[in-house]
Amino acid sequence: MGTTLITQEELRARIAELGRQISNDCVSQGVTLVGILRGSFVFLADLIRAISPEIPIEVDFMSVSSYGDATTTSGTVHIEKDLGVSVSGKHVIIVEDIVDTGLTLLHVYNILSERGAKSLRVATLLEKPGNSKYNRPLDYVGFKIPDKFVVGFGLDYAQRYRNLPDIRVLDEI
Ligand code: IMP
Ligand code: MG
Repeated sequence: MGTTLITQEELRARIAELGRQISNDCVSQGVTLVGILRGSFVFLADLIRAISPEIPIEVDFMSVSSYGDATTTSGTVHIEKDLGVSVSGKHVIIVEDIVDTGLTLLHVYNILSERGAKSLRVATLLEKPGNSKYNRPLDYVGFKIPDKFVVGFGLDYAQRYRNLPDIRVLDEI
């Protein structure tokens, strides 16, 4: 169902490139990957296996929900599931499935920054165009996509379709 936007082969090749880039950038230091649940778990699972085994890697997950206005950066953030590891003094890469308004990312960035991460970078599988409230550069971007609602490869519509092996645009939502 739906129309394929990014094929399995394209995903595989691009994630391998991102893994190589991260391996080069982190060669002299360890890295802590923080996956934002739930959408990022498929991307993260592939990404860690594309990072050189010589690099010490820690993985953890967190889940946040934000209430309020998507058009402003105000609004409150609620941590639904917190990290089990400390990020203080560590090199952290936040792993997202998709950056749309950028609000989720902004909130997570601020939380991890306040907790004293030594460096904070962002890897996102997908980036939608337009008015992201996260106005720092995205360090590792898999694909820029049009402003359409996509599912698959971890991304859901009402909790469905996360198991599709590629990224698709649903015909009717
Ligand atoms: P943001 O806070 O608006 O950047 O949204 C980020 C979150 O919204 C992502 O982590 C996704 O869970 C969800 N999201 C945004 N766009 C899509 C989409 O096209 N398909 C599925 N989920 C999406
Ligand atoms: Mg999400």
